[in-house]
Amino acid sequence: MEKQNVAPATGKLGVLCVGLGAVTSTFMVGTLMARKGLSKPIGSLTQMDKIRVGKGADKKYMSYGEIVPLTSLNDIVFGAWDIFPDNAYEAAIHADVLKERDINPVRQELETIKPMKAAFDQNFVKRLYGPNVKEASTRWELMEQIREDIRLFKTKNNCERIVVIWAASTEIYLPYNESVHGNLTAFEQAMKTNDTINIAPSMCYAYAALVEGAPFIMGAPNLCLDIPAMWQLAEKQQMPIAGKDFKTGQTMMKTVLAPALKTRMLGLSGWFSTNILGNRDGEVLDDPSNFKTKEVSKLSVIETILDKEEYPDLYSDIYHKVRINYYPPRNDDKEGWDNLDIFGWMGYHMQIKVDFLCKDSILAAPLLLDLVLLSDLAARAERYGIQNWLSFYLKSPMHDFEHQPIHDLFVQYAMLKNAIREMGGYEADQELD
Ligand SMILES: NC(=O)c1ccc[n+]([C@@H]2O[C@H](COP(=O)([O-])OP(=O)(O)OC[C@H]3O[C@@H](n4cnc5c(N)ncnc54)[C@H](O)[C@@H]3O)[C@@H](O)[C@H]2O)c1
Repeated sequence: MEKQNVAPATGKLGVLCVGLGAVTSTFMVGTLMARKGLSKPIGSLTQMDKIRVGKGADKKYMSYGEIVPLTSLNDIVFGAWDIFPDNAYEAAIHADVLKERDINPVRQELETIKPMKAAFDQNFVKRLYGPNVKEASTRWELMEQIREDIRLFKTKNNCERIVVIWAASTEIYLPYNESVHGNLTAFEQAMKTNDTINIAPSMCYAYAALVEGAPFIMGAPNLCLDIPAMWQLAEKQQMPIAGKDFKTGQTMMKTVLAPALKTRMLGLSGWFSTNILGNRDGEVLDDPSNFKTKEVSKLSVIETILDKEEYPDLYSDIYHKVRINYYPPRNDDKEGWDNLDIFGWMGYHMQIKVDFLCKDSILAAPLLLDLVLLSDLAARAERYGIQNWLSFYLKSPMHDFEHQPIHDLFVQYAMLKNAIREMGGYEADQELD
């Protein structure tokens, strides 16, 4: 076995989170509790999963950290930006996802995590008003301020490397504009001339991170990284990018169920998905312009898995509808309800109902941990640009104009395992286990 050239994970890793809301605070509390040995990082593949390497008599199962050099949880230093000045302890209490008894053992550490001023534009998130916001005369200047934040954080906390992850509110739907987003030069020009219509605040964070030599991950369905200008910047800076939109509850189930139908050659005539959700995310998504961004991300999934061109008898006429309803009494306890109208032998109709009573941030937190650690690994392995192998974690996996995204959860899992195998100097393979 020949080890690949992956730089070791020495020193501290700064994990800078855009947004310090329900998801981020749950992620931080759980990580800090896990490293104290007070909680288990359940749902995180980097911490819990094992991958088979070798075949036949040589096969063995190893954890990710044994195959590739991963940053230890002990070496993570957290930082954040938010439009509200609450520290991570206050944010966790406000989010009301975790019980106080599960937050208090790491209260002191959480209290030191105070959000930096956010790059925010009210036009991009309609229902939020907060005081902790940067002032800048252009998008370029806004981006420069974020760069300064990253540099200061890195020096102050003695970090060797930084990863930036977006877990802030979903921005309004922003259509792709070729003349601004189509290449890096035009994009930079638009930032300098302060094109506040086409340059979203999230793009300022992404640009700043990449220029500062940090991988950037987009956890919401924002356009942000899905533009050639960002792909070019990531290549130029030799940094990994991954997105978009964490694949947690309903969509995770969709990407398991849709391949099951296809594997059995069962037809689908309708799929109705609705959610009730009462946290701040639900409130933001209650606005039609913010919901549209999420809707596009959620809708793309089954159309890609159930290929109507290849199987017109089964999938040419699917009625697919997705709704999110803001319902405060539930807070972070989302109910994702799905009704599938399917058909089988001789066209006979059947139904499948799924009622997923999930906790949104509990499902999202381990994804953040993995995405952060694996993007840092990718940077050290000199894998840059779009990281297809991280599609496993994402609702709308990034892809360029020439490739189709992969949505099937188990195909995505095989891609993830093979990337880890390759970086560890083992042979990739397609065997199922
Ligand atoms: N929880 C899940 O299962 C899941 C799945 C997929 C995607 N997401 C996405 O993750 C994001 C976070 O979800 P959440 O439940 O934590 O929401 P939240 O509302 O609790 O937290 C988001 C935080 O982002 C802050 N914010 C908004 N714009 C900002 C900006 N420009 N800069 C800095 N901070 C900003 C808000 O003030 C808020 O505190 C949302 O976009 C959500 O759609 C969540």
